Amino acid sequence: MVAGNWKMHGSRAANQTLLGELEMSLKPEWPIDIVVFPPYVYLSDAVRMLEGGRISVGAQDVCAESGGAFTGQVCASMLKDVGCTHVIVGHSERRRWYHEDDALVARKFAVVLAAGLTPVLCVGETLDEREAKQTEAVISRQLDAVITMHGVGGFARGVLAYEPVWAIGTGRTASPEQAQEVHAFLRNRIHAQDAKIARHLRILYGGSVKAGNSAELFSMPDVDGGLVGGASLSADEFQQICAAASLSGSAHH
Ligand code: 13P
Repeated sequence: MVAGNWKMHGSRAANQTLLGELEMSLKPEWPIDIVVFPPYVYLSDAVRMLEGGRISVGAQDVCAESGGAFTGQVCASMLKDVGCTHVIVGHSERRRWYHEDDALVARKFAVVLAAGLTPVLCVGETLDEREAKQTEAVISRQLDAVITMHGVGGFARGVLAYEPVWAIGTGRTASPEQAQEVHAFLRNRIHAQDAKIARHLRILYGGSVKAGNSAELFSMPDVDGGLVGGASLSADEFQQICAAASLSGSAHH
């Protein structure tokens, strides 16, 4: 799976160009899921533009409530209504700038599943945490918040993304070995509860994924694809990343 998180970028004109170019360059036979995550206001446009094609559309966030008097918020059933299939929850930018804690992220994971959509749960440590050898403790805490609240069953449909905060938007990618080590740790943690779910779970790597480093990352046995930020805004870069994923056996299990 390759996911393009556009963050707060785009415009009607730019989106039309980007999606038009992607539709032409992404091969229908590539055995991977490809999902783009535009800002809320462009979701309907993107769904309409991509109808019948091979690219799905997801949202970057969701409200943990299921509707009502929550000014400025968007609930999961609305995302489903406009044609989204996936929702990112717990992105480090949400955790950091909007003070989302593990409990709130776990509630969001649940509302996405309840709406029949696929949650993409992001976990990852900061540079300070990595240097203090806290990586496993931090990502365990983030993952366990979801498992404790809802059981491991949600990962039968959910996707996990490892995004080390120090690698996001910095050009400083985790090495394939660093990514593999953490991905294997995450899969083992799920495996301890349910071997079948662990085997089928897709664990994406995110953090400065580019055309030039994607093949190496995707060649790792526990790296099942990428959650791409900056490079997803370039049709050429993004399609090269998708091509790398489609060539890698591990990117589609
Ligand atoms: P970059 O690819 O720009 O580092 O962003 C990664 C990310 O946060 C995707 O969700």
